[in-house]
Amino acid sequence: MNNGKDGDHMYCYKKITDDLTWIGGNDRRLAMFEGVYSVPDGVSYNSYLLMDEKTVLFDTVDKAVSKVFFENLTEVLGGRTLDYMVVHHMEPDHSVNIQRIAEKYPDMKIVCNQKIVQMIKQFFDFDIDSRAVVVKEGDTLATGKHNLTFVMAPMVHWPEVMVSYDTTDKILFSADAFGHFGALNGAIFADEVNFDRDYLDEARRYYTNIVGKYGPQVQSLLKKASALEIKMICPLHGFVWRKDIGYYIEKYLKWSSYTPEENGVMIAYASVYGNTENAAEILSSRLRDNGIKTVMFDTSVTPASNIVSAAFKWSHMVLASTTYNAGIFITMEAFIADMVAHNIQNRTAAIIENGSWAATSGNLIRSELEKCKNMTILDNKVSLKSSLKKDQLAEIDAMVHAIAETMPKA
Ligand code: FEO
Repeated sequence: MNNGKDGDHMYCYKKITDDLTWIGGNDRRLAMFEGVYSVPDGVSYNSYLLMDEKTVLFDTVDKAVSKVFFENLTEVLGGRTLDYMVVHHMEPDHSVNIQRIAEKYPDMKIVCNQKIVQMIKQFFDFDIDSRAVVVKEGDTLATGKHNLTFVMAPMVHWPEVMVSYDTTDKILFSADAFGHFGALNGAIFADEVNFDRDYLDEARRYYTNIVGKYGPQVQSLLKKASALEIKMICPLHGFVWRKDIGYYIEKYLKWSSYTPEENGVMIAYASVYGNTENAAEILSSRLRDNGIKTVMFDTSVTPASNIVSAAFKWSHMVLASTTYNAGIFITMEAFIADMVAHNIQNRTAAIIENGSWAATSGNLIRSELEKCKNMTILDNKVSLKSSLKKDQLAEIDAMVHAIAETMPKA
């Protein structure tokens, strides 16, 4: 890390290679990323500066960390001007400073595709046409020692997204792909931390909620990337990868193909007075007795983004909900809608419903799950009338047996 005094603020940037520097920032005050995803461990906004015969800025940062970003940029440029800005993605957490940069460096060219030109016109009011170097799939840009190749990556996460590959140092600038929630906390490389233990859950939650819906498009990008020799991945959020890149690509292959990471059951329940919860607890306990891993979530407590992420991880799910206003309980209904919108598929599901006079939630949940591809919905529904009775334990055991029967062999 390099830091020092610049005006009233210490600048803080990180060298990645001799020529490339991270000049982004971390936000630990943001309550909801994109207004919907809690980020209790913060989030980083990554921008990179290449100091070659030409200077190249890769994307900007969110307004929350703009001050440190401009301080870093000025410091690392060391009196040089900016020759190029490559824009990979127009979501404002990366693009909000484009006009400010364009005005600060009036001779700078903006390297982007035609869709990005259009979005720059939508978001900003400056003359982009005279500044744009418009690139298409496979186009290249020589900056001196380095050569950049541009690869289109539509819908990872917006339609205009593209990535860049530095053929000299074999670095992939991957836009939102391979990012994760969580501030960097002083480190810059994933191998500086215990990523699998401390960051994987937030990487999965980031993936599933940001691009989970677009698995085929992510697969398409992974296919293009497989033709490249990649020594480093520089995403727009989270750590830079220089070791064990295969580990993270393997996760992306699983997530984007909707393949479960682990055998086990994600149990989500909605319970107003604890009776539906009680049935879910007994089910979970009996699954464990049969050697089957379980995780449990109360949809009224755990944010939907966490439960959607767990649905992407586990092979099975059980959804247990009371009936409410003749429908699915509110928080369960919202979670299921979110999960279905993110294209969950290839899972085995079972349903527990409850209703003191007319249990309808089970069939409604089934209808929602039937919208998903390759979803096996077990026939062993458990229907409660207010609370689980002793003579229904056999139905719970039948559900345990059906889950065990459909569990893929390790
Ligand atoms: Fe981090 Fe799709 O923006």
